[in-house]
Amino acid sequence: MRTIIEPFKIKMVEAIKMTTMEQRKRIIEKAGYNLFLINAEDIIIDLLTDSGTAAMSDLQWAGIMHGDESYAGARSFHRFFDKVSEITNFKHIIPTHQGRAAERILFDILAKPGKFVPSNTHFDTTRANIEYKGAEAVDLVINEGKDPQSLHPFKGNIDLQKLEHFIQEIGAENIPLCMLTITNNSGGGQPVSMENIKAAKKICGQHNIPLFLDACRFAENSYFIKLREPGYDNKSCKEIAQQIFSYADGCTMSAKKDALVNIGGFLAMNDDDLALQARNVLIVTEGFPTYGGLAGRDLEAIAQGLDEVLDEDYLHYRIRTVEYMGEKLEQMGVPYLKPPGGHAIYLDARAFAPQIPAEQFPGQAIAVELYRSGGIRSCEIGGIMFGKTDPKTGQYTPPSLELVRLAFPRRVYTQSHFDYVLEVLETVYKNRDQLKGFRFTYQAPLLRHFTAQFEIID
Ligand code: F0G
Repeated sequence: MRTIIEPFKIKMVEAIKMTTMEQRKRIIEKAGYNLFLINAEDIIIDLLTDSGTAAMSDLQWAGIMHGDESYAGARSFHRFFDKVSEITNFKHIIPTHQGRAAERILFDILAKPGKFVPSNTHFDTTRANIEYKGAEAVDLVINEGKDPQSLHPFKGNIDLQKLEHFIQEIGAENIPLCMLTITNNSGGGQPVSMENIKAAKKICGQHNIPLFLDACRFAENSYFIKLREPGYDNKSCKEIAQQIFSYADGCTMSAKKDALVNIGGFLAMNDDDLALQARNVLIVTEGFPTYGGLAGRDLEAIAQGLDEVLDEDYLHYRIRTVEYMGEKLEQMGVPYLKPPGGHAIYLDARAFAPQIPAEQFPGQAIAVELYRSGGIRSCEIGGIMFGKTDPKTGQYTPPSLELVRLAFPRRVYTQSHFDYVLEVLETVYKNRDQLKGFRFTYQAPLLRHFTAQFEIID
């Protein structure tokens, strides 16, 4: 098989500032060993997130120039509406400035104390928006989805039996909606099968519960269905996406992922009454319904991006990049969450650095060393982000998984960048015995990972 090349040429470049290991050691020490506190220009390869970090195409940039900045009824809104409608067929499409703004509007209307929102796995902002309104966010992913070694092809699936039981137990009247995150970011970027989406819709439908998709990575999910689910290999990704959305009553979308733009999102649904309420909240907090917190040019870029993201040469290259990284890690024996997801590789930090106890944050040790060794920025998704310390007893409870996420911006890095990442990983893994744990010198009461300061435990 020949190399799967990037299916694009480079017309504009952005310089990467190279640094030495000595410089990086000083930079990370000065940042209190927190990778969020390093300036982006001091990073060589930035794999912190795939959100808002995509490279836009020539046609998207042309769309930026072509944007109609009229306050109401702009041409760019209609182009955006038509494109989203073509893919999702939702009746009401409401632009928002990013995904969590769509979530906030939705839960502002539907969530309140005593209500429950089940999902395969809620992303953090979705959970936070539900909890902010006093409702409860419940994760019902299949058991395979929690096992880092399971090779189940659709580890993002919701457990249908658990969903059914949950509805019986809680009562449909207390469940304003059910959600499915496609792909399941918090579970490793794992896809949800068409069969699962269809079956979830059937269960929800029987109880009159609307099914909403968190559709940020819908194109990557569609491509996994094409590759892995019987009966879909001859369908186009666009047809698969259309079928996925046909089972849903609405969606929230962060266009910063699979719409290939740096900012934007939308909320969409079929229910007229819900849409009316959502538009009223939107006008107060985001903007008029034909721009919703975005510029006309952003809407143009989203419309164009949604076309490009369903291009199968692009999706083939995209999914293959992550798979390629997985294959190489396998050869090097580096432990990671399997199979590789759609947008990221997640290192299994507990298996990578078993000598570091959970309360000394093995994921942090690896993330810091990837920076020091090669200027790579990754993200600890483990004890620092999700571990809990009881304020009374001081007892620490680690999360079920200690991961380090290497998220891949779309169309930004080439294969040689990824080969470089693999070389750095190989060195760090070879020297893993020398990795040392960390302790907090400062932690904020909430979302501590963003601002925490650390010292190395010698
Ligand atoms: N849903 C999912 C599944 C996400 O991954 C994100 C963002 C959001 C909703 C929120 O969208 O950022 O536009 O408000 N995920 C980013 C990440 C931040 O790094 O995984 P947003």
